[in-house]
Amino acid sequence: MALYSEKVMDHFKNPRNVGTIDNADGVGEVGNAKCGDIMKIYLKIDDDIITDVKFETFGCGSAIASSSMATELIKGKPLKDALELTNKAVAEALDGLPAYKMHCSVLAEQAIKRAIIDYYEKNGIPYDKEAYADREDDET
Ligand code: FES
Repeated sequence: MALYSEKVMDHFKNPRNVGTIDNADGVGEVGNAKCGDIMKIYLKIDDDIITDVKFETFGCGSAIASSSMATELIKGKPLKDALELTNKAVAEALDGLPAYKMHCSVLAEQAIKRAIIDYYEKNGIPYDKEAYADREDDET
């Protein structure tokens, strides 16, 4: 059996939504201390809807595929839905990741959350800090 699904390979080779957004409403950057990979997410938000999203990922193929899939999953969606996106949902949408690569999908979940929190903070919108804290203990 191939190590990576066709969807992972497709999103790795043809990543969707790569780039930056000028004057983004929210920007989130996270890194994985162990592998050193970095992911940055840019959001354009209009009336609580994510109207555009772009990413820059300096990382492994699974991180690139996860970023690409995650941006596809939240584009056009309300912030509430994006905040509920888990790394497991990203991995499932990619038809799975090898167990030792699941931490790569955590970057996508965390970068999106940080970008939304950045938007909330820039606009003085209150949010539940505890609910949106990074989940250090759920990387697999
Ligand atoms: Fe670092 Fe995949 S190995 S994010």
